[in-house]
Amino acid sequence: MSTDNLFNSVDTIEFYVGSAKQWAYFHEKAMGFRIVGYSGPETGVRDRISYLLQQGEVRLIFTGFLSRASEISRHVELHGDGVKDIAIDVNDLESTLSFIRENGVVKSVETKNLKGDSGTLATAKLTTFGETVHSLRDYGEWDSDLPPGFKEVQSPEANLGVKKVDHVVGNVEENKMDPWVNYYVKGLGFRQLMSFDDKDISTEYSALRSKVVEYGGRKIIFPINEPAIGLKKSQIQEYLDYYESPGVQHIALATDNIIESVRRMKSKGIQFLETPGTYYDELEERVGKIDEDIDVLRELNILVDRDDDGYLLQIFTQPIGDRPTFFYELIQRKGATSFGKGNFKALFESIEREQAKRGNL
Ligand code: FE2
Repeated sequence: MSTDNLFNSVDTIEFYVGSAKQWAYFHEKAMGFRIVGYSGPETGVRDRISYLLQQGEVRLIFTGFLSRASEISRHVELHGDGVKDIAIDVNDLESTLSFIRENGVVKSVETKNLKGDSGTLATAKLTTFGETVHSLRDYGEWDSDLPPGFKEVQSPEANLGVKKVDHVVGNVEENKMDPWVNYYVKGLGFRQLMSFDDKDISTEYSALRSKVVEYGGRKIIFPINEPAIGLKKSQIQEYLDYYESPGVQHIALATDNIIESVRRMKSKGIQFLETPGTYYDELEERVGKIDEDIDVLRELNILVDRDDDGYLLQIFTQPIGDRPTFFYELIQRKGATSFGKGNFKALFESIEREQAKRGNL
């Protein structure tokens, strides 16, 4: 069976959080998302509160709980605030499921047809690393931009330049990266793009390994990290300890003007990782001529890397919740199709300075 036409793109990414209202407010006021949908007791959903936010093509759902008996409450108590569901839009759920069932690598598949005023949304749920899931959604018989149970919310435009999800990164336990790469490649028909070993991604202290899988000509990109042994604790291990399981480490949001996006997010209180000034001293030697003013990149702590196809600009936020687990990346690609390998060292040293402040290095 052909594996070219099973998945379209990342549809929505749902977080389970302690307070959906506060997460929605933060993303609206500081990150340029617009609240477009709400679901809760007022819309007939008794056990949870969800806000759907959108910016460009990026759609995020923040879901909180209304009682201690809730599964969401248990999830948040164990993991803290984090990503639960990386939902994927599929062309034809039936053929996607027959591919998945025939090869048998992905064991847990649960199907459900959700009915509502806008028709029937055919869905399936696959479990992946930790307690993370992939909902598969077939919109063929569903005539609305809102998921079932949501009502539309009118809110002001607040765009800060985010266009789409570039990639979503999972952190898994040591020696578990390859089995999860196999899950995506053999189980779901993804393709492996590249890998980085601990020599690429190590500092004086800590190390990690990473492999990247993609689908549909990079329409969906999932890098997967595992900790490697270093002199001190790997940042991936710190994540696993605080999340108490594998899970989503970061979502990279693509922008067409990273300087403008970062400036505006900073002015609204988003905190980004810092980069030492020395990084910029040899920047031009390392990446060659670029369009941007290096002094502006230095002021904003934006990183640059080049590959055979062009260059990219990127920056990472501080953790978004209380635990040092989930964060965002902003990325602007100017031809480059890779992931900033040349920045790994600078980036990880920066993460380690934060890890050391928390007493975990
Ligand atoms: Fe990334």
